[in-house]
Amino acid sequence: MKSIKAATYYVHFKHKGYKELNSLLIKKDYSSIFILVDDNSLELCYPVFIPLLETDKRIEIIEIESGEINKNLDTCGGVWNALTELSADRNSLLITLGGGVITDLGGFVASTYKRGIDFVNIPTTLLSMVDASVGGKTGVDLGVLKNQIGLFANPQIVLIDGNYLATLNERESRSGIAEIIKYGLTYDVKLLDLIKNFNSLNINELIHRSIEIKNEIVLQDPKENGLRKVLNFGHTLGHAIESYFLESKNKKNLTHGEAIAIGMVCESYLSHKVLQLSKEKVMIVKNMIDVMYEKVVIDVSDYDPIFDLLKHDKKNSNGQVNFVLLNDFEDFKLDCKISNELLIESIEFYNS
Ligand code: GLY
Repeated sequence: MKSIKAATYYVHFKHKGYKELNSLLIKKDYSSIFILVDDNSLELCYPVFIPLLETDKRIEIIEIESGEINKNLDTCGGVWNALTELSADRNSLLITLGGGVITDLGGFVASTYKRGIDFVNIPTTLLSMVDASVGGKTGVDLGVLKNQIGLFANPQIVLIDGNYLATLNERESRSGIAEIIKYGLTYDVKLLDLIKNFNSLNINELIHRSIEIKNEIVLQDPKENGLRKVLNFGHTLGHAIESYFLESKNKKNLTHGEAIAIGMVCESYLSHKVLQLSKEKVMIVKNMIDVMYEKVVIDVSDYDPIFDLLKHDKKNSNGQVNFVLLNDFEDFKLDCKISNELLIESIEFYNS
């Protein structure tokens, strides 16, 4: 698969990726190599990865606990301490091997440790392949507020190897598909047909096209001053729902994809109400998501706490919540404002 050129780095695929990573190790002559993993990627991905790494430099593993709940400053503190105790210096390399928590947190830790060391992203989940590992966003959550602390920093290389997806369970795979649906609805509707016929044969094509789209957007607007906001379609309500379910003891945790799938149904409904998205197209989105994801019940008593969380959304300006909505598939409008009454209607539509 053809490598994709991002701002200061390349996204490489499969064998080419390992070849380029090994060349990077020679070129940069790193003093030591640290591999950040969680319990899952250590067990399932590390044994696949390590024989492919060609180096005689010292390699150390740093393991954190898996799960969004651990994507916080306490975990960063643990990793910074481990790097210090293991004598990582400014010429060390951190390789992140794992899902979105590992690549987001690892990129943040690397770019702040001793004012910044190099890092390489090797995403092992569909979600992190098509979104988190590309585009330079790094960071962690602050309490329930997602990605509240972080910075833009680019890896040296992103290495995509679809073989790691074999280690995922069904629910994790579906989580990543939600981001691909987002690219389909906002940028390239042909992706929706590919998703309907999603199988192990077309997954590499879906990943490649998704990264191409994300990269095209990020190249034009790396710091999210305008166009990049389109990547937040479904995420305004989706993030608030995800945070609310994460903090509520009596709710099961949703995956990121499950939450933004709900967000995309609600925000498609809003697009019909305030822009020109047709009812037929809203139903295409709802039916697709109803088929793909287990239904989540959002009770009336959940509405207010979810709307409270919306107030903390990073995309807000002057206290106003901003939504990305659709005039049509592949035709979006940024910075739309929505009344509370319509927000309630949109969740009722999702529940229906
Ligand atoms: N995940 C959204 C972005 O990278 O901008």
